[in-house]
Amino acid sequence: MRVVVIGATGHVGGYLIPRLVAAKHEVIAISRGQHAPYRNHPAWHEVTRVGADRDAEDAAGTFAGRVADLHPDVVIDMVCFTPESAQQLVDGLRNRIQLLLHCGTIWVHGPAVEVPVTEDALRRPFGEYGVGKAAIEELLLREARSSGMRSVVLHPGHISGPGWPVISPVGNLDLDVWTRLATGQTVTLPNFGLETLHHVHPDDVAQAFELALRRQNVAVGESFHVVSDRAITLRGFAESVAGWFGRDADLRFVPFEEFRRLTKQEDAEATWEHISRSSNASNDKARRLLGYVPRYTSLQAVAEAVQWLNRNGELDLGSNELAI
Ligand SMILES: NC(=O)c1ccc[n+]([C@@H]2O[C@H](COP(=O)([O-])OP(=O)(O)OC[C@H]3O[C@@H](n4cnc5c(N)ncnc54)[C@H](OP(=O)(O)O)[C@@H]3O)[C@@H](O)[C@H]2O)c1
Repeated sequence: MRVVVIGATGHVGGYLIPRLVAAKHEVIAISRGQHAPYRNHPAWHEVTRVGADRDAEDAAGTFAGRVADLHPDVVIDMVCFTPESAQQLVDGLRNRIQLLLHCGTIWVHGPAVEVPVTEDALRRPFGEYGVGKAAIEELLLREARSSGMRSVVLHPGHISGPGWPVISPVGNLDLDVWTRLATGQTVTLPNFGLETLHHVHPDDVAQAFELALRRQNVAVGESFHVVSDRAITLRGFAESVAGWFGRDADLRFVPFEEFRRLTKQEDAEATWEHISRSSNASNDKARRLLGYVPRYTSLQAVAEAVQWLNRNGELDLGSNELAI
């Protein structure tokens, strides 16, 4: 099939493009060309690259037409953040493609009632990003069910792999926590450290996209969480990371408002965004309908990221060796 991937060179694209090429699809990769692919792979030589800025072309009303003119069978949309943008794409592609796969987020859920939360739970998103993604999901699934655009929505957890900083045991991107855990320094966690994070490796996200494409008959009109098998608590996460360095974690617990006072504003904000949602999502539906089997646990996905950060000189671990 001829597959157009919008936002192809990012975390997920680095794994998805080689999978699509290996599956003998003809792949067209759209990005602005501002960043090289996160992951170098020979598959990039077999891909047609198209430079386009989706935001600018959405504003001009030309983006959907550009995608349609590439004559895809399947479009994989990695970078759509508003229902208006999704609607433009749907209007431009309706009856012209076989399938639209959209990348959502588990932040379409707000605070959960039952955990792990399932796809059919009542949506209670908050914040512009989660609200926008929930509105896109509703739009696309309505389209699919009313014989409009055949669509599938995949909701990844916190995407964690080699090449970029990932969400740490304090729920943000501050690299210092890895150093503190590696070197036996005290780490301050909010509350009891029992709020949760739910990571996923980008290759597992790529796996789910490939499966949704392959199993369209069961996937169309559905959304799926794409996460590792288990969410992790901040405390358990911190203890596990300290264990990678042969240490017991030295943890201190403070109420969130005190944590906020002790933490750089942008990091405290990121922590709040993560723990106020305390993601813990079920992947049972993806397992059952798509045959999704994550290759990475949450900790394995994070470990690859930390190994990469260490190898690339982004972490100061002193003389402490990672024993994972
Ligand atoms: N990061 C997470 O933990 C996380 C968690 C859940 C869901 N998600 C979802 O994952 C999706 C992002 O996937 P990702 O993490 O693989 O992407 P990413 O690493 O953020 O990379 C973004 C890709 O899109 C391209 N891009 C960015 N802006 C563009 C524009 N205006 N026009 C055309 N191309 C553009 C980038 O290349 P250029 O810069 O060269 O254009 C790059 O190829 C989003 O839908 C997000 O909501 C992410």
